[in-house]
Amino acid sequence: MSSLEIKSNDKVWFVTGASRGIGLALTKGLLAYGFKVVGTSRDRQNLINAVGNFGYRDHFLAVQVDLLNEDSIRQSLNDALSKFGRIDVVVNNAGFSISGALEENTDKQVRSNFDINVFAVFNVLRNVSPILRNQRSGYVFNISSVGGLQGVIAHSAYCATKFALDGLSESYAQEVKPFGIRVTTVNLGAARTTILDADAYKPKNRIEAYKQVHSVLDFIINQYSGNQPVDPSKILDILIRVYQSEGDTMHLFVSPESNQLLKIRAEQLFKDQKRWEEFTTQTDFETTNTNMIPQ
Ligand SMILES: NC(=O)c1ccc[n+]([C@@H]2O[C@H](COP(=O)([O-])OP(=O)(O)OC[C@H]3O[C@@H](n4cnc5c(N)ncnc54)[C@H](OP(=O)(O)O)[C@@H]3O)[C@@H](O)[C@H]2O)c1
Repeated sequence: MSSLEIKSNDKVWFVTGASRGIGLALTKGLLAYGFKVVGTSRDRQNLINAVGNFGYRDHFLAVQVDLLNEDSIRQSLNDALSKFGRIDVVVNNAGFSISGALEENTDKQVRSNFDINVFAVFNVLRNVSPILRNQRSGYVFNISSVGGLQGVIAHSAYCATKFALDGLSESYAQEVKPFGIRVTTVNLGAARTTILDADAYKPKNRIEAYKQVHSVLDFIINQYSGNQPVDPSKILDILIRVYQSEGDTMHLFVSPESNQLLKIRAEQLFKDQKRWEEFTTQTDFETTNTNMIPQ
């Protein structure tokens, strides 16, 4: 693989959930390359401590943001513009996973997962889009997952949020393309971060009948956590490579697992499609205007 050439580091990146895991690795890497970074966290001091002395001190702005509060998001965007004058790349990274059988997850838990993984992204995009549109340029990376490619046992809520994220990314990309804004959803494989340590990861309402689900979770918590294959520090160069390229990349499949899973997924979909095609294509009225959606 050829080494990465940074074409211009005079760009401003806005990264949500920057105090840990992938967000922190992206932030440190960007600062080391000389980019300017606005990092968001629920705890600003925590974020400042985590980033430490990476890069030029005046290239980093740490902002405390409640991603469910649009006033708080707007304030962080205004702070970013006051300090750096523009925002070039937005990384919607903040997220977490609840786990357990669907029946074990409460309505409140599921909604809290959608709040951060989906509705917070809507909130950020709703408020940053006018800035990017006025600039007539911008790039959005939404950090999705292999869980956005295929449902995974014990992760129905998380996978649902990442399928939703991929869907909103695809719609949004079409809407903002005329303004020079490009969008990529990043279907990332399992990365060695703190995501599996979270309290939200431990199911509370155990239903003993779900033995298979529990043995998967026991394995994940006791053996997989801390041994995930993807090195978070290797993600940034891929994002920069895509950002610096011409043209559109809607989905970026990051990790060998993600590449492999996509192939399996595509084969499964085609297998199901072919099996019933003879019948499932016979649904339309005899006279149909097939050009109703303008391209
Ligand atoms: N690790 C993986 O295997 C993997 C795989 C595919 C996709 N992803 C995705 O990558 C993103 C980052 O995950 P990670 O692995 O880096 O996890 P992590 O180490 O747990 O870090 C998660 C980050 O998201 C923020 N966050 C978590 N819960 C939040 C909440 N309730 N409200 C607001 N912010 C919250 C945190 O921000 P603050 O604490 O700073 O507020 C934290 O910086 C997520 O979207 C995740 O779904 C991860």
